Amino acid sequence: MQVIFKELTTNFEVILLESLIKNEKKEEFEKIRKNLINQPSKEEFGDYQCNICLVLSKIYKKSPREIANRFVKKLKANKKISNLCEDLEIAGPGFINIKLKNNILIEEIKSNIKCPRAGVPLSNKKNKNHLRKKVVVDFSSPNIAKEMHVGHLRSTIIGDSISRILELRGYIVLRLNHIGDWGTQFGMLITHLKDLYSSDLKKIDNIKISDLVEFYKASKKRFDNEKEFKKRSREEVVKLQSGDRESIQLWKLLCDQSRKEFDQIYKTLNIKIKERGESFYNPYLKSIIEDLNLKKILIEDQGAKCVFLDGMTNKEGKPLPLIIQKKDGGFNYATTDLAALRYRFNKEPDGDNATRIIYVTDHGQANHFAGVFQVAKRANWIPEDCEVNHVPFGLVQGIDGKKLKTREGETIRLKDLLSESIKRAKEDLLKRLENESRSETNDFILNTSRVIGIGAVKYADLSQNRITNYQFSFEKMLSLNGNTAPYLLYTLVRISGINRKNNMPEDNINSESISYSHDLEWKLIRKLLKFDEVLISIEKDLMINRLCNYLFELCQTFNRFYDKVPILKVEMSKKISRLTLCALTEKTLKLSLELLGIESLERM
Ligand code: ARG
Repeated sequence: MQVIFKELTTNFEVILLESLIKNEKKEEFEKIRKNLINQPSKEEFGDYQCNICLVLSKIYKKSPREIANRFVKKLKANKKISNLCEDLEIAGPGFINIKLKNNILIEEIKSNIKCPRAGVPLSNKKNKNHLRKKVVVDFSSPNIAKEMHVGHLRSTIIGDSISRILELRGYIVLRLNHIGDWGTQFGMLITHLKDLYSSDLKKIDNIKISDLVEFYKASKKRFDNEKEFKKRSREEVVKLQSGDRESIQLWKLLCDQSRKEFDQIYKTLNIKIKERGESFYNPYLKSIIEDLNLKKILIEDQGAKCVFLDGMTNKEGKPLPLIIQKKDGGFNYATTDLAALRYRFNKEPDGDNATRIIYVTDHGQANHFAGVFQVAKRANWIPEDCEVNHVPFGLVQGIDGKKLKTREGETIRLKDLLSESIKRAKEDLLKRLENESRSETNDFILNTSRVIGIGAVKYADLSQNRITNYQFSFEKMLSLNGNTAPYLLYTLVRISGINRKNNMPEDNINSESISYSHDLEWKLIRKLLKFDEVLISIEKDLMINRLCNYLFELCQTFNRFYDKVPILKVEMSKKISRLTLCALTEKTLKLSLELLGIESLERM
């Protein structure tokens, strides 16, 4: 209902200016107009609410009701407003409850059914050259030769969904995998590799490391305990950075093997992402130092080059430094992030020409990003009209509130976690089939349990307020009841069931003769029409759980309607009207599941 909302707002503004705001108060008006019309605090209050009379009462020293009376009178006299609104009711101390006309709502339903985005408008924001805006979403980003852990899983799922929502709104989205493929740890990895596979070094293709994580642990142990190994590892870093052929080859080998493991997970989760690791920004690191020097922001402290951060202090109350270059000349994680940020905002061809960068990592990196963003701002690297957002998320815990572990106390591998979910989904499905004495093909069983298993893990993550920690429970996420993926899928399956039973041709559904009388029909209509507003608010605050909460409510509203209102066994015009609501619910649900990266099912 964004379009109607805008139309309402514009007309309210005009009338407010004409009839209530005196010239000398124009400044106050600027503040008021931002919150002129709001979502109602309760559903039964109507479609929208206008609360400004309370603010105006303070400015003009009159009672809010008096102001509201006058305002409503002017509003009602306006033709455009009376075309849109059924009722403008003054409630409480002076709120105005806005109820839209039925025919306006029905027109919206009809137009949303035809719209491929179920009524979600394309963003009209354009960049300076009047092109669609480009957003970089930096997510997933595991580290080479290390385990891709549950934190990376959260980043992957949340980042993918943010990307999908922005794509739907018409942005060009560049999904970037900022993998940790550079840094001093490669010195020890390559040295260990050279020691273990000395006879294969001529034929590097023959080297297969069976377990990269074990390999990482072994080299770390040697690095910590063997003096001579440590020394050679340090020399190896220099070799690698100066582009030594053999070192580079071995580095590539490590990256390739890691990549294969990451790709398996991306395939299972159906994630599209472009790899552009830390190493990519190597050529741009030096100019970071030069530019910060030029702008006189860089300060040398005990041999290291740093920027001291405003407003961020350590325990002793001293300003925290962001170290840009270490004493030994090496660069840091933060240096790479600064170079990456600059590159992403830079114009093509030597940059991405983005107008917004979104970083999805765990909460533990909040200070890192606050520091990086501050330095970038002070160095003027964030162009006008451009923004950066860190999207932090909490930890995944076991049901006991502790770190997620296997029964044996080991950290859980992502692969195992996903297959466990699929396995449990399959067990549930088989039980259901037995209870209902249904028989299904093996293909059906495999596909259904895969969709439910993966969907449940994704949804459990996305439906949480991402900032808080969440407790991982297969039982809860796979349950058919509650705010879960299986519950949403089940609602979708119900609608497919209606469609299968209905023998009326599709095109009849868009018929003109739509009308509604039942209270539960209107509840569903109003819920359906909130879809676009939910997505638009997510674009701003990047809280995906808003969409999940909305979907849960939509499904509950639909299921109440389904339970109480006959759909197929009624006279033709009612049937058409109700099938229209089923069709729009189906469309909204399918599209939303797609936005969450979850596949749909017609039967389950
Ligand atoms: N590789 C990092 C980690 O595992 C995440 C990188 C996030 N992106 C970034 N631009 N720093 O913690």
